[in-house]
Amino acid sequence: MEEVGYRGQGTVDRKKAQIVNLSEIKITDYKRLTTKIEEFDRVLGGGIVLGSVNLVAGDPGIGKSTILTQLALNMENILYVSGEESAQQIKLRVDRMKNQAHFSVLNETDIDMVIQAIIDAKPKLVIVDSIQTLQTSDLSSITGSVGQVRECTHRLQRLAKSLHIPIFLIGHVTKEGTIAGPKTLEHMVDVVLSLEGDPQSMFRILRSTKNRFGPTDEVGIFEMADSGMLEVKNPSKLFLNSASRRINAPGSAVVATLTGLRPLLVEIQALVSKSNLPSPRRVATGIDYNRLQLMVAVLQKRLGLPLWDQDIFVNVTGGLTINEPAADLGICLAAISSFKDKLIPPGTLFAGEVGLLGEIREVKGLEKRTVEAKKLGFTKIVSSQNAKTLVEVMKMWNNIK
Ligand code: TYD
Ligand code: MG
Repeated sequence: MEEVGYRGQGTVDRKKAQIVNLSEIKITDYKRLTTKIEEFDRVLGGGIVLGSVNLVAGDPGIGKSTILTQLALNMENILYVSGEESAQQIKLRVDRMKNQAHFSVLNETDIDMVIQAIIDAKPKLVIVDSIQTLQTSDLSSITGSVGQVRECTHRLQRLAKSLHIPIFLIGHVTKEGTIAGPKTLEHMVDVVLSLEGDPQSMFRILRSTKNRFGPTDEVGIFEMADSGMLEVKNPSKLFLNSASRRINAPGSAVVATLTGLRPLLVEIQALVSKSNLPSPRRVATGIDYNRLQLMVAVLQKRLGLPLWDQDIFVNVTGGLTINEPAADLGICLAAISSFKDKLIPPGTLFAGEVGLLGEIREVKGLEKRTVEAKKLGFTKIVSSQNAKTLVEVMKMWNNIK
């Protein structure tokens, strides 16, 4: 075969770029490690892919170090690189979780030292807590700056690929300032997980927002306990239990949301009360504020509800955030129920998007939502299948004795 290249330019030994035909490529399943935390594995798409770089992002104090320490405890031959806490502090955390520490800790912030240590120790998995504490003296910018964080991630990415060692990077979500947030890294890593939750509530949601090896939008639900993060195996039951410790009062509606592949029943609460402000308040917690404004406008126009002088608060219980339109109908009904001070009949569940014309639109995965609802004792599911408009929903409600 003829040699192609820039002969005579001193680069005779250049490697040739390889062109491959797709028909020659065999798709083998990615080799994965299990975290022994079912919820975690599921969010990853079945475990940690060898050689992958996984970013775990979240607000400070949300539990990132806790959950990854748990991972380190569950698995063998782990190296926990900590630029943030001393080995003693990590041991204290492990003690708090009533466990025996047996993984290795490296207290180092210089990326080249970290890389050398990984090459020498050849761990099965590396956890970096946090990427914002690593730095290289090759760059003059300060630790935590976009340049530093990107460069360190880039080097770790190459290392992960060449040694087939998976790496987890912890990244703090930062409000502003000179510290680079995880957003600046998303395109460089294989998987982005975000750990979310209302700091006031004990629930934590692990969500995959990017995954080169599996589904996105998958969520795992945990409860922050004294001994670490506990998996919540049946989240609907838990969210509703905490909800049904409530008195069944006007203003409460249950919806079935679909996060990833899994349906989740949650309670939406609304409080609608006469305002004494010239411009009444609209407060949305756990749902999009603009969506609430829209729903209120639809209720005023299509049902003729005089909500213009009412304060309206809507809250999703348990600190959950819903960002799919399938919750619209539940938001509307919770608001109507509070405004009219009238109970929604027990056992009723809502799954529908509400359009600008007051029409109920179909939602994806109704079957799945229905199955979950029935499992938990909901007998009446209101959706586009049995009501075409909000007016029809109101008629159904009025006919129930
Ligand atoms: P941490 O994992 O340190 O947060 P991050 O790394 O995201 O900044 O967790 C912080 C909080 O979690 C802290 O307030 C203590 C609490 N916590 C528990 O409730 N249970 C536990 O078992 C542990 C280790 C921490
Ligand atoms: Mg931490």
